[in-house]
Amino acid sequence: MKDKLQDLVEEIKSIVIHSNDELENFRLKYLSKKGVINEFVSQFRDVDASQKKEIGQLLNTVKQFAQNKWEEANELMSSKSVNDQSEKIDFSLPSEPDFSGSRHPLAIIENRIITIFRQLGFVLHEGPEIEDDWHNFSALNFPKNHPARDMQDTFFINEDIALRTHTSSVQVRLMEKQNPPIRAIMPGRVYRNEAVSARANCFFHQIEGIYIDKKVSFKDLKQTLYIFVQQLFGESIQVRFRPSYFPFTEPSAEMDISCQLCKGSGCNVCKHSGWLEILGCGMIDPNVLKMNGIDPEEYAGFAFGMGVERIAMLQFDVKDLRTYFNNDSRFLTQFKNY
Ligand code: DAH
Repeated sequence: MKDKLQDLVEEIKSIVIHSNDELENFRLKYLSKKGVINEFVSQFRDVDASQKKEIGQLLNTVKQFAQNKWEEANELMSSKSVNDQSEKIDFSLPSEPDFSGSRHPLAIIENRIITIFRQLGFVLHEGPEIEDDWHNFSALNFPKNHPARDMQDTFFINEDIALRTHTSSVQVRLMEKQNPPIRAIMPGRVYRNEAVSARANCFFHQIEGIYIDKKVSFKDLKQTLYIFVQQLFGESIQVRFRPSYFPFTEPSAEMDISCQLCKGSGCNVCKHSGWLEILGCGMIDPNVLKMNGIDPEEYAGFAFGMGVERIAMLQFDVKDLRTYFNNDSRFLTQFKNY
């Protein structure tokens, strides 16, 4: 009997239980009333008294061993069936909320604008947000005490240092370190001391462009900007240039596009004029070229600057500038698909 019990232990050890059916078969064969182990229990009566202690202990061990094996397998099967259930899809459940982020609308527009100019051969450049008087004003032909400085309500840090009021300062940084031909696009944040409202903020974003080479003319400026707005707003867009004044360009102009909302017939957005102003531009003043080490007899150039918020407002029909900076996720998640 001792040998048989030892064989039984080996037999039970070798069994692998894969399913609920196999689990039940195991129980019936070894642990049920009519099972193999109980069979040994009934034969135990006939065991010689001298062996009873040893065989009895062995019998108990075998029984416990089989019982443990069944319990372990049973636990495994029930956890498996829980998992199986969770893999079944319940189509009546609401979908899981999508918490993935999206690009900020200003970044979307900035990237679009940069992409268009890159295709036209402009390279990307950046400059510091904290600027000195020279780069922000003087090298751009704003003489000291010139009223043009008042056009830009400036946050001064000290007499010489300020938060840049426009990205035109990056033009200067570029001209001083690179010889023509120069063809660059310069995005960045700018600061002005203005009361915050739906139409103005104390900081905003601009994109500056500059092209300096031999024989660059106003014709090149017009054509470049026309191609740009056609790519951004669509081929049917119309443009017009109005004379304007900037200290660093001569002649200077502001460019308007036909209002996309009313297609030129007049609405609230374009104040019933049919036109919307989108950028300032002009031929770089020979004085500015000279001050920055470029010979105006040999080279000419054009420059332009536009506000990213304004263009994004037109593209996304945003009415209040402040929504760009509140970080309200109800606003921001609307731009997921751009
Ligand atoms: N810096 C001007 C502004 O902030 C925009 C501008 C106008 C930039 C004409 C230019 C330009 O480069 O040629 O209003």
